[in-house]
Amino acid sequence: MKTDLQYLSRFITQSQLDDYTQRAIAALQTLKRRDGAGNDFLGWLDLPAQFNPPLANEIMAAVNSLKQLDTVVVVGIGGSYLGARAVIDALQEPFEQNKPEIIYAGHHLSSDYHKALLAYLDNRRFGIIVISKSGTTTEPAIAFRLLRNLLIQKAGREKAARYTIAITDKKQGALRLMANRENFKSFVIADNVGGRFSVLSPVGLVPIALAGISVAELMDGARAAAADTGNETSQNPAVLYAAIRNCLLANGKTTEIMVSYEQGLHYIAEWWKQLYGESEGKQHKGLFPASVQFTTDLHSLGQYIQDGQRMLFETVLSVENVRENISIPTDTDDFDKLNYIAEKSLHYVNTTAQQATAQAHVDGGVPVLRIEIPELNAYHLGYLIYMFEVACAISGYMLGVNPFDQPGVEAYKKNMFRMLGKE
Ligand code: PA5
Repeated sequence: MKTDLQYLSRFITQSQLDDYTQRAIAALQTLKRRDGAGNDFLGWLDLPAQFNPPLANEIMAAVNSLKQLDTVVVVGIGGSYLGARAVIDALQEPFEQNKPEIIYAGHHLSSDYHKALLAYLDNRRFGIIVISKSGTTTEPAIAFRLLRNLLIQKAGREKAARYTIAITDKKQGALRLMANRENFKSFVIADNVGGRFSVLSPVGLVPIALAGISVAELMDGARAAAADTGNETSQNPAVLYAAIRNCLLANGKTTEIMVSYEQGLHYIAEWWKQLYGESEGKQHKGLFPASVQFTTDLHSLGQYIQDGQRMLFETVLSVENVRENISIPTDTDDFDKLNYIAEKSLHYVNTTAQQATAQAHVDGGVPVLRIEIPELNAYHLGYLIYMFEVACAISGYMLGVNPFDQPGVEAYKKNMFRMLGKE
């Protein structure tokens, strides 16, 4: 992974960067000593080292029991589904008919969606992976109830249990109770791993393995990142990223936009937004994490980024080599006037668009940080995920917040439960 600072020199001085790098290293030391705020939620740091063949085998055995189905619905919200969706969307071929097809529910309360989902599943052999650490979150609980009712109607209670995997707390919560009583295959989310830091636990690994993606390679990448992100130097990519974003925040850039030029990275940005938003947005502090997909959004939000309020900076997540390259064909008529790029690869055009956009945005007053991975595969995604998690913890400590709690999430729930009449 490369961190490219070439577009930042107008916005950050070397002495500022040195200063923030020292602060980031101090925060990393706190993280490594495990004596900072929220230190009872640091189990995610050890997930790559703890991943072992027995766990891998248990995951494979569980997903094999769902492999013959047409569809598996992954039920969860926030940290209980975004990581898996991010990796699966990034690595599955977009138009392939995957078996089983993986779809998602429990991440919202739309009646139309759930009605359509149930109608769709009525004609399919389906299973459920239900993920909730607390085991009591309303959105996935409702979706699971709807889906389980249908599954029992279609297959009977015993088969419904066989086609259900639950991932939840070891002892507590309604989902644990149900999993034990109904005999679902289940995995445990450790007490010391918070939802948004759980993708490298069974929370992410079970759906990812079901999608046919190598969890071993993903965890190899995460292990490599664990080694690199322990270094107390400016070469550490997590230190550097945390230092730069906090430095830009101090310089008035209060919104960070995650930019990608690959369609497959859309949910990586969604996962990243939750990780940083929920970890840092406390006590009226923190960068607002946003995301755009280029070049698509250059034709919508591009105008604002170029010329709107100057509180933005971009973190471009770039992929050096694509899995599949195609060339633009020569056309003798050249009606569309594209022959000037005939026989050039589409990736070359996309890369040129990246360079041109970065230059334009820098000229417009928007700092651009580039993070480049060599290619979109399980290893590099594992690396990136772990690196972003460590950087998030460092960055939260630099801001002076506890990166591992989410007290603000309760506010809407309290109102909703009161209005719905929950005791
Ligand atoms: O990161 C978090 O802790 C949250 O986003 C949770 O993952 C989310 O609220 C879902 O919670 P639960 O897994 O308990 O259903």
